Amino acid sequence: MTEIPEHLLKRSRAAKGKGDEGAASDSTAVTPATDAGAAPVAAGPPAVAAAAAAIPADKPAPEAPPEAHYIEAAKARRRIPAWVLPLVGALPIWAIAFAGTMQQPEVEDPLFTGAEAVYGEAGCAGCHGAGGGGGVGYQLSDGSVWATFPDPVDQMVHIARGSAAIADQGYGAERPGGIRIAGASGNNMPAFPDLTLLELELVVFHERAVLSGEDTSSEAYQEWMEHLREREEEGEEIEIDLELLLDCAHPDITPGATGVGSPDEDHPCPGPHAEGEEVAAG
Ligand code: HEC
Repeated sequence: MTEIPEHLLKRSRAAKGKGDEGAASDSTAVTPATDAGAAPVAAGPPAVAAAAAAIPADKPAPEAPPEAHYIEAAKARRRIPAWVLPLVGALPIWAIAFAGTMQQPEVEDPLFTGAEAVYGEAGCAGCHGAGGGGGVGYQLSDGSVWATFPDPVDQMVHIARGSAAIADQGYGAERPGGIRIAGASGNNMPAFPDLTLLELELVVFHERAVLSGEDTSSEAYQEWMEHLREREEEGEEIEIDLELLLDCAHPDITPGATGVGSPDEDHPCPGPHAEGEEVAAG
């Protein structure tokens, strides 16, 4: 540190002394009798004298600097309220609960995973698109597939039998642009007689509920889904019985269908149907 030259110190001391005198002399305005820089015991009303004395006495004492505004503000600020603590404690619980909502239940559901797997493995996605948007084969998404087949069982027949078997015949319900004519697209829908019945039902479920957004909320539909799920878990392998499917399908939708219902109690018509009902009125 550079030392301050003595003459400067002297000057500063002198200036301070003057300042004190100045401050003290202010009191002269109140008490003209008090002489500037006079001893505190000077004449005048005692209160004024005390005030005059206080000023020069206090001034030179280096006072602690006033606290900065931000420190005062920090001290004045309220602390974290007590009720926050339980909230902080509950945070991990909330985090776990939240993580739970992020999971798509369908992803874990054997019904949905199984159905999607058949759609991919049987090669449907190759011609109809992974999302059912269409390609070589018709679009199956956005309600298109159930516009053609209001009842899933007719769709099952079409997939098992393909379109070459009913070449040039009309099939399906009245839909925008008229009913479907087999082979009219310039390509045939291949037959899939070697799928198991469960696979056939699963792929139909996938195309309708997942790709085409069919309403699954009815009791009958929910029962069908539960039935599929159970069989998927059991690993059922029943062959497709096209005769049975034709008995279950609707004659006005599916060429060759009888609509008489299943003759075999042990093998009811596949798909969602109301209690005791084998075939929806066709
Ligand atoms: C080789 C290509 C190809 C494959 C593989 C294929 N399809 Fe098709 N699919 C078609 C064609 C082409 C049509 C239309 C045929 C026609 O014009 O009659 C069609 C029609 C359909 C229809 C009728 C849709 C409607 O609205 O008329 C359904 C349902 C269908 N396919 C489902 C499936 C399913 C399920 C699979 C897999 C198990 C599958 N397709 C595999 C080519 C294919």
